Amino acid sequence: MSRRVTPVEVEAIRQRLGQRSIVLVGLMGAGKTTIGRRLAHCLDVRFTDADAEIEAAAGKTIAEIFADHGEPHFRDGERRVIARLLQNGPQVLSTGGGAYMSEETRANICRSGIAVWLRADLPLLLKRVQKRSDRPLLRSDNPEAVLRRLIEIRYPVYAAADIVVDSRDISHTAIVADVLAGLANHLKNEMADEDARR
Ligand code: S3P
Repeated sequence: MSRRVTPVEVEAIRQRLGQRSIVLVGLMGAGKTTIGRRLAHCLDVRFTDADAEIEAAAGKTIAEIFADHGEPHFRDGERRVIARLLQNGPQVLSTGGGAYMSEETRANICRSGIAVWLRADLPLLLKRVQKRSDRPLLRSDNPEAVLRRLIEIRYPVYAAADIVVDSRDISHTAIVADVLAGLANHLKNEMADEDARR
C-alpha cells in the first residue's frame, strides 16, 4: 500500500467515521498501541488502550489479574470493558491480542467500529515482545513456540477485520500512512455501496 493520504483525505476519513471507533487488532508486538496513538493524533480523535482500561477497572495489572483469577476471568472483563469503550467513539481503540477472538467482541466492533488488523510475521513479533516481560501468555521457556501457535489459531480469525495492514520493520509514520490509506479506501467503498443501494 504505502500511499500518503492528503490532509483533505484525512479530514474525509474523520467525517465519514462519524461516531465509530477505529479498532486495532493483532498479536502482541504488532504495534497496536504505538500505531494507535499516532493514528489518533493524525485524525485528532481520542486514543484509548483497552488493556490499560481493563487494568484501571480491576485496580490490578493484567499479569496480576491472570495470576489471581485466571485467564477466563480476564477474558470476561476484557469483553465487558471493550463493549463499554465502544460507546465512546469517535476514537482509536487498541485492543489486547486475544480480544478479537471473542465472537461477541467481534460483533460489537462490527456494529460500532472499523477493525484494522496489524499483521506482522513471527520474527518481527518475537523481536518486539522481547522488549517487555509483563505479558502472562509469553512467560514461557519458548515464547517463539507460543507465538507460532497463536499465529496459527488467531490469524484466520483476525482475517475477518475490515482492513489489513502489514506491520513491517519500517517507520511508524509509514505504517500510520498505510492505515490511513486503508481507511480512506474502506470508507470510499462503503459510500459507493450505500449509493448503489439507493
Ligand atoms: C494478550 C495480549 C495482551 C494482553 C494479555 C493477553 C493475548 O495485550 O491483553 O496479556 O491474549 O494476546 P497486547 O496484545 O497489547 O500485548
